Amino acid sequence: MISQKSVEEVLETARVEEVVSDYLTLKRRGVNLIGLCPFHNEKTPSFTVSPTKNIYKCFGCGKAGGSVQFLMEHDNLSFVEAIRTLAKKYNIQLEETFSATKSKEEIEKLESLYIINEFAQKYYRDQLDTDFGKSVALGYFTQRGFRKETLKAFGLGYAPNQKDGLLRLAQQKGYKIEKLREAGLLNQYDTDFFRNRVIFSLYSISGRVIGFAGRILSADAKAPKYINTPETEIYHKRKFLYGLHLTKEHIRRAKNCLIVEGYTDVMTLYQNDIRNVVAASGTSLTEEQVRLIKRYSENVTMIFDGDPAGLKAALRAVDIVLAQGLNVRVVLLPEGEDPDGYLKSIGAEAFADYIESKSEDFILFKTKLLLADAEDNPLLKAQVAKDIVASIALIPALLKRSIYVKECARLMGLDEIVLMQELKTAIATNLKKKKHLHSAGLQADSDLKTRRSAPTQKKETTTDYFQEKALLEVLLKFTDKIYLEEDDITVFQYVLEMIEDVKHTFNDPLFKKIIDHCYTLLDNNKVPNSAYFLNHEDKDIRQFAIEASISPYAYSENWSEKFQIHMHSQKAPDENYHKETLRTVLRFKLRKFDHLIKQNQATIAQTESDAKDSDRLLTLLKLHKVLLEQRKIISDRLGQIVLS
Ligand code: UTP
Ligand code: MN
Repeated sequence: MISQKSVEEVLETARVEEVVSDYLTLKRRGVNLIGLCPFHNEKTPSFTVSPTKNIYKCFGCGKAGGSVQFLMEHDNLSFVEAIRTLAKKYNIQLEETFSATKSKEEIEKLESLYIINEFAQKYYRDQLDTDFGKSVALGYFTQRGFRKETLKAFGLGYAPNQKDGLLRLAQQKGYKIEKLREAGLLNQYDTDFFRNRVIFSLYSISGRVIGFAGRILSADAKAPKYINTPETEIYHKRKFLYGLHLTKEHIRRAKNCLIVEGYTDVMTLYQNDIRNVVAASGTSLTEEQVRLIKRYSENVTMIFDGDPAGLKAALRAVDIVLAQGLNVRVVLLPEGEDPDGYLKSIGAEAFADYIESKSEDFILFKTKLLLADAEDNPLLKAQVAKDIVASIALIPALLKRSIYVKECARLMGLDEIVLMQELKTAIATNLKKKKHLHSAGLQADSDLKTRRSAPTQKKETTTDYFQEKALLEVLLKFTDKIYLEEDDITVFQYVLEMIEDVKHTFNDPLFKKIIDHCYTLLDNNKVPNSAYFLNHEDKDIRQFAIEASISPYAYSENWSEKFQIHMHSQKAPDENYHKETLRTVLRFKLRKFDHLIKQNQATIAQTESDAKDSDRLLTLLKLHKVLLEQRKIISDRLGQIVLS
């Protein structure tokens, strides 16, 4: 595979007029060049090449694109072939990366690791049936209250106190010692890694055994309580969550994921029908783990042992979760309790109630906690404000952020404006960091290649079609222009930040696809330039970007009146991009908020007739208020810039 960096180098170097001139004669006309279109039969030239935009478009047949597309269409090449051809023409050394798809040998190797783990699991499980295993290990589990079916579901077992019990049996059965090593089942002396420990199986999300954890039985203080399979080719600690293979569907259904610390906590909750739970195995959550959770739920509830010393450290870990855009609630258990012990002492129902009623929004929880320490010391309080704002700044959604600022300002008795100012600084710092990461190198986006869909030939006019279109045009056209000078924020970042709260409201399927793609880029710290979209591999996206950049008549006169879109793009669009961006974003949001308000009103009307649902009604009315407030902010802002 060609690295994304090389692809970009080719795209930046290749001049469309030079590539096209290899095939047809171009004549200058104004700033553009024109020629006879190679894609359809014509007598008068309508094939136009714009050297400044580095694209071509035929006004006869509609074909349009950049250098790559020209070669793809003209010579019937694939994207990669076109890139290779251009690299040759311009003498660019292509950097090859290794393909993400695995070779047959690699797949076989991984498969052999799964098989040896399965074999080991059976061995450990069978030990529970030996006399010694029965009395020691099964006895231990039973005494802790685990039922047979729970032991089975979680693949529990026992590693006897033998130097090479597993090794010998494996060799008898014809397994190679090398495989046992690769699976982490042997120690450095090539004897059994797990000895005299109860065994917890570690599963992949799809439910295959990838490793084990062994818990010590005696209260022997010298050895660690748990030992885990070291990193192998199939077990990666950073990407592993205990229990997820059994609980993922429950997490999805519950629309919430409880996060606990220990293996036994997961088992106890699961056994008591609280099944939307995982454990991060003693470490603080990694970004990879959070992304896994995000596949199943946007909401997490972190359950912490009520131990004040560990708590502050735990709070820091929550920031990773916030940064992924998840909604985080936290619950503290009474001091000295962990979920396993506490559930057993108060019962499952009371435990579930406790989690439900005592869980608190993380930001507010953190504010109160830190504030309690700061008491009336203004210096400490300022530090707390900074600390909280740092967390709020990590939240991707603008609307959420502003609600938090309000609430925290109230809690701290500070002016909202002051916190807002802090927030602005913190966000700018984060973006600088992001930018830095970004310039460290781009990864190929394999995601989109597989999702190519049929081109949308006819123009659908879904609800809000023109507002959505205008927004995307601005986004793709001005992409990497700097929007906020002092903070180094590009139009791309700015627009996506601004519409975060309504990003799910796109109606047009193509626009939906483009906006999803844009957020994926943003999530991966990529700030594309407009050439990126003009040369995009996805035909629909490319086509849209080209049309957006080429057509001076983005909207017709009567659309303007009909849909309240104004034609500032017609005159000197480049100088006006700043205003145009803001105006387009605000118009888009105004429209979307109008819909949200209408929808909510309809729901309120429905709920009002249902007397039983007074709680819901209250929430809806609150929402109505928030929506109206937001709408007012938007329309005020819009009023200001129209006047300015
Ligand atoms: P805990 O000490 O809370 O253990 O560690 P636990 O899960 O409650 O186990 P029991 O109830 O004492 O049997 C929480 C998690 O931290 C990791 C394990 O994943 C454990 O489940 N851990 C702990 C280790 O990896 N190594 C250790 O030595 C201790
Ligand atoms: Mn425990």
